[in-house]
Amino acid sequence: MAPVLRRTSARSRDPESRHPPPIRWVLAGRSLVNGRLRPLEIGVSGDGIIVALGRDLRSPERHDVGEGVILPSATDLHVHFRDPGGSRTVESFATGTVQAALGGVGLVADMPNTIPTVTDAARFEEKRSRVLGRAAVDVLLYGALITTSKLDELATTVGALKLYLSPTTGVDTPPGHDEIPSLLRRAAATGLPLTVHAEDPQKFRLDPPPRSLSDWDCSRPEVAEEAAVSEVIAAAPRGLRLHFAHVTSSRVADRIAKAGHSFEASPHHLLLSRESRLGSRAKVNPPLRSEAKRSELWARFAGGGIPCVASDHAPHDVAEKDRPFELAPSGMPNVETMVPLLLAKVRAGDIDLARLVAVAMDRPSRWVGLPRGRIALGHRADLIVVDFRDRRTITAKDLHAPCGWSAFEGREGIFPREHYRAGERIVFEGEYIGTPTGVLRRPEFAM
Ligand code: NCD
Ligand code: ZN
Repeated sequence: MAPVLRRTSARSRDPESRHPPPIRWVLAGRSLVNGRLRPLEIGVSGDGIIVALGRDLRSPERHDVGEGVILPSATDLHVHFRDPGGSRTVESFATGTVQAALGGVGLVADMPNTIPTVTDAARFEEKRSRVLGRAAVDVLLYGALITTSKLDELATTVGALKLYLSPTTGVDTPPGHDEIPSLLRRAAATGLPLTVHAEDPQKFRLDPPPRSLSDWDCSRPEVAEEAAVSEVIAAAPRGLRLHFAHVTSSRVADRIAKAGHSFEASPHHLLLSRESRLGSRAKVNPPLRSEAKRSELWARFAGGGIPCVASDHAPHDVAEKDRPFELAPSGMPNVETMVPLLLAKVRAGDIDLARLVAVAMDRPSRWVGLPRGRIALGHRADLIVVDFRDRRTITAKDLHAPCGWSAFEGREGIFPREHYRAGERIVFEGEYIGTPTGVLRRPEFAM
């Protein structure tokens, strides 16, 4: 994000129109301009588009956040809102998108492993009807790439595809090795972005039953990830818009980066290790790795070697999570805490603000082909306001996840003070004040 300082817009949403729509109000504060925090005013039109960037903009209305830092809202490429199939103690679009809004996330990409799985147009429709009128932020829906039979039909509805190569929540029988090349070819033909959960189950060691986070790491080891990533890279046809979910190792990250594909790391793999005392609550797929591996992954992330961060927000009923380790489901909530945890890391000097904007806002938005994640003329005014003095200790009782716990309890977080969706304020002084007007999004341009 490097907004060019200019008084009026040279470009409006309609390239034909010479005159940009008038400024209805101005948001004034500080933002990253050419890599540095500088005063900036953002002129927003009546329909919520950024129509001017500069200083001393004239406008009927003005909201000055002083030393507050204005950033684009984030795009989270990986959430499981369990709708349909969730419950009051797990999640829904209504509850999940409010957490997103409070956590500075303006677009969520929801995974297809719901009950039922999103495999055809009718199931997409069912899910769509659960989003509209209930979502606090915008939503992109994934479809599941399991067989090719209904793929053409599915591809006209969903915003992206997800391929699971290993068993995980809601996925019992992943496709076999011989099916992978044809699935990838068919995915490429749809033109949709494809995210892969890359673990090769043939490399799993599920005996004896895992009883701890270390056992879980040994049973689904890094070599399983490496093998699956290599297999997919080797089979990926030209033109496939490919992304790997939740990469846990710097070596795998380097391998994917070298091949030129997109990928994400998740905050739990960046901030937690198998040495954590959280037991089955920190059971996730792929597993948390050793502290040494975690710190290598963080170094790669802070150094710019990882393009995207995504929460893999995967809540389960807490009673289910607290079952004996081998029976507990995998996954933890994080959509509300991902950006606040990383903003606290910016404040601590562990990562640059520009890097955070790239990994949480800009790059994930580009990957799903949507004009967001930057403060730029013609983009929608989907913005957050952050006060870096506003440090808070994360505690589940202040969070909004129905499952009621957080693996990041006790850590520092900086939550956005304000969040704007198309220029409308949906979070003010850290409270959600919006209405559920979030809409469905699909890619608008190629990567
Ligand atoms: C996810 C879930 O519970 O849906 N669990 C997880 O541990 N990440 C599924 C997944 O992403 O593998
Ligand atoms: Zn997931």
